[in-house]
Amino acid sequence: MSLSLSTESQEPPAEAVDGTWLECIECGETFAPFDDIRYTCDECDGLLEVRYDDLPTFDDFSGSGVWRYNAALPLETGVTIQEGATPLYRVPRLEESVGVEALRIKHEGMNPTGSFKDRGMTVGVAVARELGVGRLACASTGNTSAALAAYGTRADMETLVLLPAGKVAAGKVAQASLHGARILEVDGNFDACLDIVQDLAGRGEAYLLNSLNPFRLEGQKTIGLEILEAFLADYDAVPDRIVLPVGNAGNTAALFKAFRELVASGELTPEDVPKLTGVQAEGAAPMVEAIENDADEVRRWDEVETRATAIRIGNPVNAPKALPGIRETGGTAVSVTDEEITAAQRDLAGEGIGVEPASAASLAGLRKLRAEGVVDADERVACLTTGHLLKDPDAAAAAGQDPEPVPADTDDVLAHLQR
Ligand code: F0G
Repeated sequence: MSLSLSTESQEPPAEAVDGTWLECIECGETFAPFDDIRYTCDECDGLLEVRYDDLPTFDDFSGSGVWRYNAALPLETGVTIQEGATPLYRVPRLEESVGVEALRIKHEGMNPTGSFKDRGMTVGVAVARELGVGRLACASTGNTSAALAAYGTRADMETLVLLPAGKVAAGKVAQASLHGARILEVDGNFDACLDIVQDLAGRGEAYLLNSLNPFRLEGQKTIGLEILEAFLADYDAVPDRIVLPVGNAGNTAALFKAFRELVASGELTPEDVPKLTGVQAEGAAPMVEAIENDADEVRRWDEVETRATAIRIGNPVNAPKALPGIRETGGTAVSVTDEEITAAQRDLAGEGIGVEPASAASLAGLRKLRAEGVVDADERVACLTTGHLLKDPDAAAAAGQDPEPVPADTDDVLAHLQR
């Protein structure tokens, strides 16, 4: 089985509850949505997706934020801190310097905890509550842990986060800490942390809220729905391309699912769908490798390194959902150097948009693909910036201007300015 844009909406299986069920993307096995706790298929261990018999069109959405889209979600409402409805900035100078017809920046750093993870957690934590689980847990390069800590405490649930020691930006650890998560610093990278959390979840010790959890990706679909609605309002057309940073490839999978559902509901044709274009850091680019080699599977990279610590990931667990997303939409994947990432972070900052390094990878990748002629001058493009500048104050300070020490005297200050 492969995920395709031409998939029709389906008849609900016997396990469906209110027209919602879980389905394995590999073998097609179906499961009741909220009966038992499972993250992968009982039969073949394939990834699961939430499926619906009734798929909405744009007319079915009302209100603001993630829950505007509840007709496309498994619950009516969730554990909310007013996530979603993030800005889609115009950046005229960047648009001109990149050289595309239109460039908009969807700044997911403007969510409650400063990253897109909130969109997943508002749904995922609500499902956890529905399932009646005890402890919530995740492995994280930082943002997931901040979001889980905030939404978990909002739901009055215990939270446990596993972080790769020394490789998580300061703002994110501070958030997880203040929102009351128990933080374990693991002597290993993110992928090792995720292996452990999966084991803990498998042994019934915790409910896993990484993007392997199919309910989290439902919330993240709303990024795509917001971008499409805004482009339709501003340009009377959906974007030609959406460029996004890739770590575990959860967002890539979620956007592809949003588009497939709009095609199935008759709202979009497969040709309308924006080209999903993933960007990874050169030192952590297994998805790019798979796209370049036209491989069916992603090879796990054991050694990964990049300044963009949020995407310092060697084993993108959502690859089986995301690779078809990139291919079916006619998109691509590209890697960028840490220097290109920092340059793009400065470029965005120059438009007044403060993002963390991983976020800037999208713009860096777009620049590279435009320069190579892969992206055309007549394209309208949305770049996703996934996390706020204050998440990683050290990276921001290193990329920015150094403060200048001066004496506390106006004449000395003036003399200094004239130097
Ligand atoms: N950008 C930021 C700022 C992130 O924090 C992440 C993932 C990504 C991009 C990649 O998104 O996994 O959907 O491809 N951060 C996770 C975390 C891994 O633990 O916070 P993806």
